[in-house]
Amino acid sequence: MKADEIRKKYLDFFKKSPRNHKEISASPLVLDGDSTTLFTSAGMQQLVPYFSGSKHPKGKRLVNSQPSLRTQDIEEVGDNRHTTFFEMLGNWSLGDYFKEDQLGWFWEFIVRELNLPKERLWVSIFKGDKDVPRDEESFKVWKKLGISEKKIFEYGVKENWWSMTGAPSKMAQGNIGGPDSEVFYEFSQVKHDKKYGKECHPNCQCGRFLEIGNSVFIQYVKKADGSLEELPQKNVDFGGGLERLAAATINDPDIFQVDLLTPLVKVIEKELGVEYGKTSESNVSVRVIDDHLRASV
Ligand code: SER
Repeated sequence: MKADEIRKKYLDFFKKSPRNHKEISASPLVLDGDSTTLFTSAGMQQLVPYFSGSKHPKGKRLVNSQPSLRTQDIEEVGDNRHTTFFEMLGNWSLGDYFKEDQLGWFWEFIVRELNLPKERLWVSIFKGDKDVPRDEESFKVWKKLGISEKKIFEYGVKENWWSMTGAPSKMAQGNIGGPDSEVFYEFSQVKHDKKYGKECHPNCQCGRFLEIGNSVFIQYVKKADGSLEELPQKNVDFGGGLERLAAATINDPDIFQVDLLTPLVKVIEKELGVEYGKTSESNVSVRVIDDHLRASV
């Protein structure tokens, strides 16, 4: 499926009844009046005040597509699935719906609208730590949606906790965040590489699995004494990489093969006189140039 079609389907899906989201404009990549990051790195960045109770003029259910730039991922660029610049499809509940609707709607979107085969889909939940309990609710919702227990993986704060600064220990006073639940697409044609561990699993880095969506349940704020306090409202912050969703729809583990990225790959091939896909060395170069050019523009 083409990326334009996926973006349109996603926005329409969340705007339609019974979901009734309002579309908000994307933020500029360099945010005005926000000195916390150099670039917009997630769709939720413009919404921070509204997770703590301020009223958003467009209501409690919002959706958009946000160009994002993550300089922290720059060293990963060169493999077949990382970029610094990407487009993030996002939907938010500002103290309105919660886990059951969110996980169910995203599942419906990828299975019914994008036609991703259920057998290729795996999910993860937060397994809990000393401060926050295991995410039983998401576990139950996934089971209710028909996902077998063996396809529901549990991870700790490194994988299944989200805040702008990462794990709870890295959150500064006033930062908000919470446990998350991710969905992965399995490229069963990619063989597990034992260099990444004995057994493959959704967060394995061998390339067999690709994260295609992350539902963050923003429920906590970090206090001055280092503890986490429940926010006055429970929020959903969903983000899914458009390029990755597109790669899943064409069942190609290389996101540089999706239609948003291939035109530039072709130009680079021509300019450098190389053939993409021929050697892993030139693949890395083409991907780095492709990503960095796109990000710069
Ligand atoms: N903020 C979360 C992320 O960036 C979900 O949108 O992954």
